[in-house]
Amino acid sequence: MRVHGFLSLLGVFMVFSRADALFGHGVLRCLFTSTEDVLYLEQVYYNRLLFGQWNSTLGKYTGYNEKAKEIADALNKDKKFLHQEQRNFNKCKSLIPLVFDKLSKPVEPTVKLTLVKATGGRHPNMLVCSAYDFYPKLIQLSWLRNGKETKTDVLSTDELSNGNWFYQIHSYLEFTPSPGEKISCKVEHASLMEPKLYDWELFDESERNKFAVGGAVLLLGLLVFVAGLIFYKRNSTG
Ligand SMILES: *[C@@H]1O[C@H](CO)[C@@H](O)[C@H](O)[C@H]1NC(C)=O
Repeated sequence: MRVHGFLSLLGVFMVFSRADALFGHGVLRCLFTSTEDVLYLEQVYYNRLLFGQWNSTLGKYTGYNEKAKEIADALNKDKKFLHQEQRNFNKCKSLIPLVFDKLSKPVEPTVKLTLVKATGGRHPNMLVCSAYDFYPKLIQLSWLRNGKETKTDVLSTDELSNGNWFYQIHSYLEFTPSPGEKISCKVEHASLMEPKLYDWELFDESERNKFAVGGAVLLLGLLVFVAGLIFYKRNSTG
């Protein structure tokens, strides 16, 4: 079974604040296994141990200790509970178009070039080419000095997962500036018809502010979305 991605939402459903605190939390997940299939998984943890879980493929609740097994037996006979789990599964299913048509489309990276002081290297300066929030993971960053690709004094991170479908990557070029030199970061990605060049001089403060505002708006939107989901879930189980 290949999991293409998942949306997850985490709800802390009980907290006892005592010196020897006991802590429980639940994780509700839609796992999108193919364009036709989805697994709805509801897991309850108690003091970090898996206590019980609903697996939509299995179609029943499983308990992982004596007490949990008792509860599971009761839940598996509870028509209302089973009906609710079916509804949650259907909700996951209804998200399939969103996941495969919208979210799986290539998303162009936001690219930022920054100049920093190099420490301890052979060169006094370092340029960082950062690509943020792209999808899918495969990407190629390279450096051009006066239009010619350079591989020396270049270091790159792996693609780092943001945990929200998107990735970021950073490439570093150590260099000694020479007058009139143009340095560019070349980005190749599925979201781009052709390689895109980002020139060092082009990045000024106003560009940076635009990104900051866009990021804040996106974050706010996400927060509202997640809050809405949690509210929906609370209401529909309560
Ligand atoms: C859910 O149940 C199916 C069918 O028994 C099983 O193949 C799958 O591994 C289970 N998934 C999890 C995460 O337990």
